[in-house]
Amino acid sequence: MQIPLVDVKAQYAPLLETLRERFDDVLASGEFIKGPNYRAFEQEAASYLGVREAVGVANGTDALVLVLDALGIGPDDEVVCPAFTFYATAEAIARRGATPVFADIDPATLNLDADDVAARLTDRTKAIMPVHLFGRPAPVAELEQHGLPVIEDAAQAFGAPGIARSVVSTFSFYPTKNLFCLGDGGLVAANDAELAERVRVLAFHGSRDKADFQLVGYNSRLDELQAAFLRVFLEHLDEWTRGRREAAARYAELGLGELVDLPEDEPGHVYHLFVCRSPDRDRIRAALRDAEIASATYYTTPLHLQPALRFVGYEPGSLPETERAATENFSVPLWPGIDAAVQERVVDVVRSAVGVRA
Ligand SMILES: Cc1ncc(COP(=O)(O)O)c(C=O)c1O
Repeated sequence: MQIPLVDVKAQYAPLLETLRERFDDVLASGEFIKGPNYRAFEQEAASYLGVREAVGVANGTDALVLVLDALGIGPDDEVVCPAFTFYATAEAIARRGATPVFADIDPATLNLDADDVAARLTDRTKAIMPVHLFGRPAPVAELEQHGLPVIEDAAQAFGAPGIARSVVSTFSFYPTKNLFCLGDGGLVAANDAELAERVRVLAFHGSRDKADFQLVGYNSRLDELQAAFLRVFLEHLDEWTRGRREAAARYAELGLGELVDLPEDEPGHVYHLFVCRSPDRDRIRAALRDAEIASATYYTTPLHLQPALRFVGYEPGSLPETERAATENFSVPLWPGIDAAVQERVVDVVRSAVGVRA
């Protein structure tokens, strides 16, 4: 594809020299696990997010599993989450032996529908896990009214204002995320110091000192090298977020909204991806492919219909808005600094695709 969906290399190209310097510094230090960059990044991330504690872990999936474990969630427990999200959200719940209970989404935001969540709570519900999907903040304050822990799966939304206010949030630094590293990485951001400490201990084999082991835990740490890179990238995050928002606004200015449904803007949206909707998406995507422009679809088999999660007992048709979004969504290229001419080309191709009726 001539025009990619995201261009991470273009994002870090101006930082290559700094990244090489940080790499050399870590090499010179010989400290690869829990070194000074790891500790400094945890502090810098906590202060950026405005949370009490941040714990660096190996990836965003581990972050979810660790949080569920630290909250004592396991067999016989239910956790309400969306089915229109990446598999890891529900996988983490099932991994703990708990049951993911899927609530439908609000079609205007693609995030959890708070009313549908309320209707699915039982005396076995131990937590609610909204996802800030595609970078748009989910309705956390509304979900908190049930008095259950709200675990924000914020993998796609680092840098979104107003998130990570609940008891605990998780992040992924998978390359392409809004804040990314050069491999796998993740973070737990907690506003409860005891919970954060439990996550920290669990992530280190259930031990504080690798001598006494109080819990059956995990080995899940953010590498020192990745922490060093993340410290460089965190300094550029706000500028990247502005670039994402500018690019999103430009698609609207170019008239893309007359051709397909655009994600509704709101000030907190950080456009991890620019996901549109159209009943004609397959025709539009074919035209984009012919023009060598990348596009993608998300969660086309939503989680309640995934083979590994069919045991939960949902049938096709049980989450109508989720299933409709699954058939209509597609994303077009967007990254911080994307060229306006590239966006114009994308809109021209979509215009000619929707203009030509099948
Ligand atoms: C919503 C969501 N949750 C969890 C994850 C898992 O993160 P990771 O790939 O770092 O394990 C991802 C990202 O891939 C995600 O998009």
